[in-house]
Amino acid sequence: MLPISREKAIEILKSQNPEEFDLIHYRMSEAVMKEVANLLGEDTNYFGMLGLLHDVDWTLTKKEVSTHLTLAPEILESLGFDKEFIEIVLSHGYGFEALPELKNKVRTKKIEWALAASETLTGLIYAYALMRNKRVSDMQVKGLKKKFKDKAFAAGCDRDIILEIEKTGLTLDQLFEAGITGITKIKSEIGLE
Ligand SMILES: [Fe+2]
Repeated sequence: MLPISREKAIEILKSQNPEEFDLIHYRMSEAVMKEVANLLGEDTNYFGMLGLLHDVDWTLTKKEVSTHLTLAPEILESLGFDKEFIEIVLSHGYGFEALPELKNKVRTKKIEWALAASETLTGLIYAYALMRNKRVSDMQVKGLKKKFKDKAFAAGCDRDIILEIEKTGLTLDQLFEAGITGITKIKSEIGLE
């Protein structure tokens, strides 16, 4: 189902010389997506790969944000990913004003809502962990929820996108728990405790 291994995917991402935080973002997105896949009874490897590669052209396009996700299709196609995988990757950019090709599209599938919500939540968890002296392992859902409700905290994390998780049938609390669990599993690889 997947044309490349996760090791290969990481190798490709690293070969672009990404900023350290961007690589951390990809790793966190992978970790959260795997937990969400578990909750939904879906394929953890497939969900994980979507998390890992959802921003595959970010390093190459970040100088001109309006071009984000315009290179992703050809990169993913050349690696052997099918149209379905590519469209799910693109779907996390649906609705973004800055992306001309995608801004008028709307997510309609569970896997699309899961990806958008998961990758957006990583920013909130990471910011909260930094505030807690890098500790994520003893982070509580309740505390994370407070940060979610405090719109001024990590203001770049779009709360409405995180809320899309509810369209998959999961609750916000389930996503928060999955996020903390997933990111705790990789904490030592991303500089958290
Ligand atoms: Fe992302």
